[in-house]
Amino acid sequence: MKIAPFETEHFFARYEFNTPYQLCNSDCESISIQELLSLSGDSLENFGQERLIYTESQGNAELRAGIANTYSNVSAEDIVVLGTPVEGIYLAARTLLDPGDEVIVLSPAYDALTRMFEHVAGSSMVKRWCFRPGEDSWELDLDELRELISNKTKLIVVNFPHNPTGYLPCRDFLNTLLGLAEQHGLYVFCDEMYFGLVQPGTEPLPSAADVSPRAIALSGLSKTYGLPGLRCGWLVIQDRQLLEQFMNWKFYTSICPPGPVEYLSTAALRIWETLRDRNIARIAKNLAVADDFFERWPAVFTWRRPRAGSTALIGWDVPSVEKISHELATGEGILVQSGRMLGSDDQHMRFGFGRDSFPEALSRFEDWLSSDSTAR
Ligand SMILES: Cc1ncc(COP(=O)(O)O)c(C=O)c1O
Repeated sequence: MKIAPFETEHFFARYEFNTPYQLCNSDCESISIQELLSLSGDSLENFGQERLIYTESQGNAELRAGIANTYSNVSAEDIVVLGTPVEGIYLAARTLLDPGDEVIVLSPAYDALTRMFEHVAGSSMVKRWCFRPGEDSWELDLDELRELISNKTKLIVVNFPHNPTGYLPCRDFLNTLLGLAEQHGLYVFCDEMYFGLVQPGTEPLPSAADVSPRAIALSGLSKTYGLPGLRCGWLVIQDRQLLEQFMNWKFYTSICPPGPVEYLSTAALRIWETLRDRNIARIAKNLAVADDFFERWPAVFTWRRPRAGSTALIGWDVPSVEKISHELATGEGILVQSGRMLGSDDQHMRFGFGRDSFPEALSRFEDWLSSDSTAR
């Protein structure tokens, strides 16, 4: 059966490796294998001794213990290490849904968090819980969620911190959401790929898996820890029977994690707070640069500053961000992404603040903006 195009990944496949000035990446600055090993007290020589055998299907025990250590109420037995983070979304859609089940998803959202569920449940069974533009930030309304829940609802899919809006709920909001799920016997699939990337002044949010056994959390090393090339992701599933059902699907997709990835991921988890804090500082610096930029262009852009995560969804008063984005990529080597691809509209774009090159890319974008009257 055909599936809708994964627009974000098609767009990045086309431009990510041929545009020098990128403004819309969701990952954070990466480091080399050598630097990772040396920061974590290990060496390339030890890594070189790794034998390339099959690994434990649920994930290496030391790695799972390292992952569990980043949560408060989660044990190594609750973790399933994946072949890639995005695989976790596929497994969730396959494992949690039966024919006739309804799903509630956030909108806008990372493509897979809507399209995968539409593919498995059928488009008409997927309802959208939409972000609303507030004065200074994007907002979600729990009353709207209550209205979407029906007796067919099986699953709520959320993503906090949120890509692309940078939204992060407060603790009470998360507790109420998880309480609603428990009350109605629903699962909550919580994509926490940006877990812990919280700007100073915003209250950090616990993992949904630390709060409720009905929550299945997805996380990984791609965003918060700046290691997207490792392709390390995991699920937290506290119900043993459900975990076994996820494992059954995983045997059809990746079987077991790659050994070299597990080795390097175990090293990364020894220094997870250092890796995370470096990226929080990087994003804070880039957000300050963005604040100044948007202050200079108040009539052109609507800036809703993200509370968390690495991205923001920015209003741009032009007929089509998408049309401009292709022209900018091919003509100027500058990469911006239309919000339309993520389920927003073509008068919004995503920015990403996790890269060291952000200020230079923004300055190139501003030079182009100053010289091109159609964009203002
Ligand atoms: C919310 C969200 N979930 C999952 C993923 C997938 O992560 P990965 O590309 O590391 O598989 C992404 C990547 O952009 C994302 O933004």
